[in-house]
Amino acid sequence: MTVQDEVFEKRLQHHHDELRWLYMELYNNGAMFAELVEQLKVYYKQRKRSLKALDQKREQEPDWFKKRDMQGMMLYIDNFAGNLKGVMKKLSYLESCNANCIHLMPFLDSPEGRSDGGYAVADFRKVKPELGTMEDLAELASKCHRRGISLCMDFVMNHTSEDHEWAVKARQGDGEYMSRYFFYDNYDIPGQFEKTVPQVFPTTAPGNFTWLPEIGHYVMTTFYPYQWDLNYRNPRVFNEMMYNFLYLANQGMDVIRIDAVPYIWKQLGTDCRNLPQVHTIVRMMRMIAEIVCPGVVLLGEVVMEPQKVAPYFGTVEKPECHMLYNVTTMATTWNTVATRDARLLKMQMDIINELPKEYTFLNYLRCHDDIGWGLDYPVLKTWGMDEVAHKRYLNNYFRGLEGGGESRGELYNEDLVTGDARFCATTASMCGVESALDQNDEEKLERAIRFDLMLHAYVLTLSGIPMLYSGDEIGQLNDYSYHDDAAKSVDSRYVHRGKFNWDLAKNSKDSTTCQGKIFGGLRELEEIRRRESVFDADAQVWTEDAGDISVLCITRQKGAEKMTGLFNFSENDKTVWVSDSGEYIDLQNEKKLSLREIVVSGHDFIWAKKSEEM
Ligand code: GLC
Repeated sequence: MTVQDEVFEKRLQHHHDELRWLYMELYNNGAMFAELVEQLKVYYKQRKRSLKALDQKREQEPDWFKKRDMQGMMLYIDNFAGNLKGVMKKLSYLESCNANCIHLMPFLDSPEGRSDGGYAVADFRKVKPELGTMEDLAELASKCHRRGISLCMDFVMNHTSEDHEWAVKARQGDGEYMSRYFFYDNYDIPGQFEKTVPQVFPTTAPGNFTWLPEIGHYVMTTFYPYQWDLNYRNPRVFNEMMYNFLYLANQGMDVIRIDAVPYIWKQLGTDCRNLPQVHTIVRMMRMIAEIVCPGVVLLGEVVMEPQKVAPYFGTVEKPECHMLYNVTTMATTWNTVATRDARLLKMQMDIINELPKEYTFLNYLRCHDDIGWGLDYPVLKTWGMDEVAHKRYLNNYFRGLEGGGESRGELYNEDLVTGDARFCATTASMCGVESALDQNDEEKLERAIRFDLMLHAYVLTLSGIPMLYSGDEIGQLNDYSYHDDAAKSVDSRYVHRGKFNWDLAKNSKDSTTCQGKIFGGLRELEEIRRRESVFDADAQVWTEDAGDISVLCITRQKGAEKMTGLFNFSENDKTVWVSDSGEYIDLQNEKKLSLREIVVSGHDFIWAKKSEEM
């Protein structure tokens, strides 16, 4: 046995029994399990030497992705730089944004006009021709690695495109392939599912099934009708999807985002979300990664309420995902913006701060998707707020129609039956930059920029990895041009999926411009975050009452180092009090200050570090 073989065998031995146990529990199929193990070895053998070396390094340093200098940026390859080769040329720009973990939005082959932004994959082993090739991807990964940048990509495992080879064969009536999806020749079972399964896209893609007249069957389509749900009860589906996962990992990916993971197991009579079998599958995936490519981090996309999210970390002994999106905090942050009431956000943060420090969250203000108003309504109810009325207020506020908001944006998937709707816009537009520019109002613009920076400072204060949405670093605005594109016009998420504006990016060094103010302001904050050990993942974090419901107060402490962040979600200046009587310095300008009684300007913030020995 070679040294490399030994490494593999050792890892396999470590996980074999648990992996087999879970596999047999789900599939009771020894032959398929044997095939899986055989293939793990094949993918391990195919893995490049340099990646194996990185794996071994990261095994020694399993917290490599939790360092306080980790900072993500998510971008669409075409919007940002045309194609993969273009991204290679822009790595210095990304470095100037302090981004060292790049999430490339879906880029695998998917049919034009039926792609759901690339989340309908027709071939897991082919890059969209207009973006480049698999070789380009691997080349980009090694270029990134040389600069200490990690790459993240999506693994869309809940469904395939209707153009995927399996779907094409299934549509021709091939039973073997039909069994990889959910096919029904009449509406009995689909009808029963519809009674308990909510809708993801109630307006743009109502229902969870699609009728295929050419073969007289319904097929399950939780998302768009052209995204066919895979049937993970079939071990062939699980095995093949794991091979695809490993194939992609072997191109040099550092982070794999498991798309829509709560949906992957379906059971009649349930809501088909977060079922126990989903956790079995994610746990198996984690072990498979630890056997073949332990340098790879799993990022779960779990857009659910907090009680449903944390279980995807698994347990400390039996971990599932390494990282999860801090989605409720994100939605609650925008709720705080619209209400100027930080109480719910404080409660949300207290829940997160109680979780084990091993859990790593990805913190963000905006991403490529809409903002769903997934708030803690039972709590809001005790404060006299009704869910439907409150959502209506939020959507009105962010369209600039109510509550004195200067935000601009569009509704998403407005459900005319329930009155529900989600919201789409860029950070800068939501902070009022767009309306200030429209009104040519310098003073409003200054305030909007300050607000934008305050929200970013707050995200940078949270434990975990801050993830910026490309364009936010220069305050990019909503892009309404998608209205004229027939393939996109029904999906308002495109309002915040515009082309990156390189002309405006040229202003990023000019501090008299809007772009320069945001870019420069962010850089300064990011550099403070990198420098100060209070931002370490294992710091103690708690919230405090600062005496005003509009002001959120977060304290971080690491050893003798302590800092307090005060974030004013109101447009009015606020005077607040923090109990600690010591002397502090303002991390932005090094000036001394006391938190006993301090004014935080409207929509502004203070990062104060305790200056004396404790
Ligand atoms: C995820 C993606 C979203 C997509 C959906 C279906 O939620 O973030 O953009 O529509 O999965 O794949």
